[in-house]
Amino acid sequence: MTSFFAPNTHTPASCSSSSSSPCQSPRDVVQIIVVGAGLIGPRHCQHVYNRPDCKLAALIDHSANGPQCAAQLDTALFRSVDQYLEYLESHGLPYPDGAIIATPNHTHVDLGMKLAAHGIHLLIEKPLHSDPVECKKLIEYCYAQNVKLLIGHHRRFNPYILKTKKNLDKIGRPIAIQGTWCLKKNHDYYLEKKWRVDRSAGGGTLLINLVHDLDLLLYLMGPVSKIYAELLVPQREFEVDEGAILTLSFKNGCKGTFICSDNIISPFNFETGTGENPNVPHMADLSGFYRIFGSRGTLSVPDLNLYHQNSEIGLRTPTPSPPNSGEFMKPPPKPFDLQLNHFINLITGAEVRSSCSGEDALNALLCIETVLKSIDSGKPEYVPDLESFI
Ligand SMILES: NC(=O)c1ccc[n+]([C@@H]2O[C@H](COP(=O)([O-])OP(=O)(O)OC[C@H]3O[C@@H](n4cnc5c(N)ncnc54)[C@H](O)[C@@H]3O)[C@@H](O)[C@H]2O)c1
Repeated sequence: MTSFFAPNTHTPASCSSSSSSPCQSPRDVVQIIVVGAGLIGPRHCQHVYNRPDCKLAALIDHSANGPQCAAQLDTALFRSVDQYLEYLESHGLPYPDGAIIATPNHTHVDLGMKLAAHGIHLLIEKPLHSDPVECKKLIEYCYAQNVKLLIGHHRRFNPYILKTKKNLDKIGRPIAIQGTWCLKKNHDYYLEKKWRVDRSAGGGTLLINLVHDLDLLLYLMGPVSKIYAELLVPQREFEVDEGAILTLSFKNGCKGTFICSDNIISPFNFETGTGENPNVPHMADLSGFYRIFGSRGTLSVPDLNLYHQNSEIGLRTPTPSPPNSGEFMKPPPKPFDLQLNHFINLITGAEVRSSCSGEDALNALLCIETVLKSIDSGKPEYVPDLESFI
């Protein structure tokens, strides 16, 4: 069978087809490895495993989760990226086509550099890193190595968000946006993994959660120029942040407010409204975790109710329908599947432009940096220009 895409050409020596090797399937499937078998890594593994045109070539993790997860997914397990690469090289096996990095935030760049050195394309969980300088280093290296870089801000692939973006022009010029991400995380979530409460390792709700919403605000509204932020009163014993309130000025003139907390009991968050996270119950009738106010009306997300004052119907014009009703007779596609599909298309060359590039991730991170700077200074702070940074 001929291959439908050019396989990774950065291949050490000749490829043996030993049956115990992590590279035993034919090269007409895309070979993907997943690094990290914690909370989110196995979810990525499952999506790869489910695709007939993909092979989960290996799982890499040193924790106690690794063996069981690898066994369930019928894949080879390695304790580290170094050990995996050495194994391939010593057995003359080809490198995989792509890697999904789902490890703690502070490890993303180092692991990405090691894999990119061998031409392995990268899908890296958000945030790319907590340090913009580190992000820049990896972005530049990926260009130099001709490696595709996709960052896992998978909400860009969520059907509610895609529909919101498509219908934004119905409200005219965006004047203001109001957003909320408030959800109470289980206390054990923090006790289980130390990095989640360590700012230097990329922990805290601003880097773990707010970065997702900032990415969506950037995706919907474009670049942010100025941010003022204050921390919410903490209720836990950990030193790391658990929430903030923000005012934002976008370069297009739109203004915004946002409340983020991972320690408030509330349905007003992306997961509850979209049903996207299997660990968070879906409230199908939730409205307004985002409200976008425009010169000709208001759009509420995720319900996608559109409020116009242009007819005898009065204020409410219930269009467009949300993705879980009406025109969608079957369940909408899962964002993780759409994200993986896009990653495979980048690898095979079917698509060229990353839907969430390193620069996009850096933009979101520069906003987080500005939030932190404003919290420290007590003043509004300007977001550095991506162009001056890159
Ligand atoms: N897209 C999303 O919705 C989403 C959701 C949760 C987490 N995340 C992101 O995914 C990443 C992982 O989060 P998590 O909550 O799953 O973390 P986790 O701590 O539960 O799991 C991380 C795993 O990586 C392993 N690991 C650490 N360093 C490693 C290394 N050098 N090599 C190999 N394995 C290593 C650990 O042993 C652990 O099993 C983070 O960047 C986080 O922000 C994204």
